Amino acid sequence: MKLWGGRFTKPTNELVDEYTASISFDQKLAQYDIQGSLAHVEMLSKCGIIPAGDADTIKNGLKVVAKKIANGEAELSEENEDIHMNVEKLLIEEVGAVGGKLHTGRSRNDQVALDMRLYLRDTIVTMVDLLVKLQEALLGQAKMNLDTILPGYTHLQRAQPVLFAHHMMAYVSMFERDIERLQDSFKRVNRSPLGAGALAGTTFPIDRQYVAEQLHFDGVVENSLDAVSDRDFVVEFLSNASLIIMHLSRLSEELVQWSSAEFNFIELDDAFCTGSSMMPQKKNPDVAELVRGKTGRVFGHLIGMLTTLKGLPIAYNKDMQEDKEGMFDTADTLKGALALFAPMIQTMEVKKENMYQAVAKDFSNATDLADYLVNKEMPFREAHAVVGQTVLYAIEQGKFLLDLNIEEFKQFSSLIEEDIYQVLAPETVVNARDVVGGTAKNRVEEQIQSAENRWSEN
Ligand code: ARG
Repeated sequence: MKLWGGRFTKPTNELVDEYTASISFDQKLAQYDIQGSLAHVEMLSKCGIIPAGDADTIKNGLKVVAKKIANGEAELSEENEDIHMNVEKLLIEEVGAVGGKLHTGRSRNDQVALDMRLYLRDTIVTMVDLLVKLQEALLGQAKMNLDTILPGYTHLQRAQPVLFAHHMMAYVSMFERDIERLQDSFKRVNRSPLGAGALAGTTFPIDRQYVAEQLHFDGVVENSLDAVSDRDFVVEFLSNASLIIMHLSRLSEELVQWSSAEFNFIELDDAFCTGSSMMPQKKNPDVAELVRGKTGRVFGHLIGMLTTLKGLPIAYNKDMQEDKEGMFDTADTLKGALALFAPMIQTMEVKKENMYQAVAKDFSNATDLADYLVNKEMPFREAHAVVGQTVLYAIEQGKFLLDLNIEEFKQFSSLIEEDIYQVLAPETVVNARDVVGGTAKNRVEEQIQSAENRWSEN
């Protein structure tokens, strides 16, 4: 008989059992569910709602059930629908009818919201740890590449040279914001919904605050209707995860490009690449590609959750059972990606010479020729036109700016002197960007230093 079977005269249609059950996926919450039940039963006894002896029996029983589930010894059934009722059934099997006192003053509605919050708390902590490791790998590459110059691109056209360290630090900044967002969301996740009951609270003299404290929450979700209806903390997690994987995906795209023969800027370690079943020469950046690909499912889960919630009246509706698979899949996808990315970045070989050659053979110093003229009091717009014509001339001659002799330069402006060759050299061009956050070596060192200072404060 179903735990809720009292008012029914017929067994549930098998297809309905199959269709409405969530046990196949919410068993992931088993340990959190039991953790919550232990705190709840402790509170029931402390408040005199059930006798202390019964509470002890239930607690011991719950611990046995927890072990059995962890060892795969417990039978979880679709007939018992979800993890909450499966645990309660197992408890009653373990300790007898007294196990039926566990659910006093509680509903699966506040219980499932609690389990989700406990799960996300752990997930957020794990993700922050993994993000920090990735930042360390990026920062390590930055430190090793303070003299590595590569073309910076806009529109994927060579634009201005930058330090590879600067490029790495851009990602460190992105992941820093991602960490901040996760940490900020933690305070909204870290509130206990327990005690909201099905929707309106409960007639028993429970102590919500006590349960919250035992489970190390910062407090309770105050309004009982909100406590059981709210899944915005899930949406927020999915949104934060979407931003993280969007950042990872952009980095992936760069790794894929850079490791192609066309760029040949980096080589990913063999341990992080895979081969082709047909073409013996292939070494493919599959991890980066797959992370880029998995971005789709994470964005999909965010839109899916928002869409599920958008038309729901307060309070709990069965639709909300759809909150779990996307959340689990997102967490697993992100954890998998982050765990791989840190060592993949750490072991990547940076081909400094190839990057430098790319900078030497382009027009990414053209802005500096214009700035040179501006320093000699030519209006920038005029300088822009002069340099545009110089570049056009060089292209027609099959040359780059540094290949032009001084007479050729002087055809375009008499203001250009011999010192131009020094001004247009890649190192000078990079180090000329000596503004806060610019790509000059000393400014990139500053960024590294301030990142390290922030980390040592935390
Ligand atoms: N399995 C359900 C879910 O995940 C638990 C809550 C069920 N509550 C209810 N009143 N049917 O949403």
